[in-house]
Amino acid sequence: MPDFDSIPRMTIGHGPTPLEAMPRLSQAVGCNLYIKRDDCTGLGAGGNKTRKLEYLVAAARDEGADTLVTIGGLQSNHARQTAAAAAKCGFVCELVLEDVAGTPKQDYYNNGNLLLDRLFGANIHPVVEGEDGVVVADQLMARLAEAGRKPYLIPVGGSNEVGSLGYVRCAHEILAQITTQNIQVDQIVHASGSAGTQAGLLAGLIAAGADIPVLGIAVSRDTEAQQALVQALLEKTLQYLGLDPALATGRVVADGGYFGEGYGITTPATLEAVKMCARVEGILLDPVYTGKGMAGLIDKCRSGVFSSGQNILFLHTGGSPGLFAYRELL
Ligand SMILES: Cc1ncc(COP(=O)(O)O)c(C=O)c1O
Repeated sequence: MPDFDSIPRMTIGHGPTPLEAMPRLSQAVGCNLYIKRDDCTGLGAGGNKTRKLEYLVAAARDEGADTLVTIGGLQSNHARQTAAAAAKCGFVCELVLEDVAGTPKQDYYNNGNLLLDRLFGANIHPVVEGEDGVVVADQLMARLAEAGRKPYLIPVGGSNEVGSLGYVRCAHEILAQITTQNIQVDQIVHASGSAGTQAGLLAGLIAAGADIPVLGIAVSRDTEAQQALVQALLEKTLQYLGLDPALATGRVVADGGYFGEGYGITTPATLEAVKMCARVEGILLDPVYTGKGMAGLIDKCRSGVFSSGQNILFLHTGGSPGLFAYRELL
């Protein structure tokens, strides 16, 4: 494996993020719960994308780019953190944003992440109904290049083998913290979407020879589809690190039982998880990602899938600005 620390990276986030106990939530659900606070990565209200962007923005810089282009939903946390990274590092930011059917509308168009995107100075390109965001982004890339700009395309969620490196690094950080704090972690749980977080985390654990299981609670896909997405990116990330992709075998576990009707559409259990974490731990989750992830975790504690003696680490991937777009449901 090449020297991981020699891979180009821009330090744009705060770290290491805290890893701490959640005693009151543990008592409420009957398992020993810990939390890794990647909602506290610092940049532009924080979240998991900041770690990925440290590698993606370095790659853009090394290619001589002057503009970051990315794609997401109108309330994308990834788009908001990309806009903040662009502002911090001196790039122009162009966001291709898609509306999401079934979401509340009163605050969705002007609040939360979208308001912050504008504040960070990003240019917004709405995708009209019937168009495909990826195609719109490709066309935009061509137009920008024709106009003499040097655009760099960051994929949905920052999820490719470069972005995943942010979570390889996070895996190393977690292993160091649990050693120092003398915690034996039996299970890591987090919300899994475009797959870069889970693939990177697993690649980092595999590279370090650690066998802690990672459960990705899918936010928009059934179990099989989510596992296939994570598996493919995990294999690519391992290859990028010079490791055997076969090391991925048997490591990818996702659960598609908690996302409800679709991406961005919240569920009663998600809202219960958001309210419960706020009221017993003072921690803000979100209705699209971490609320669903936590709803899965709580259900598995209550139903005995996770037992009372187990130490479970919830990776908080951020997203709280999204709360303000869902005010009418909360
Ligand atoms: C708050 C939050 N949690 C989790 C995820 C999922 O991470 P990934 O796309 O790497 O699977 C996202 C992705 O946008 C997110 O914004």
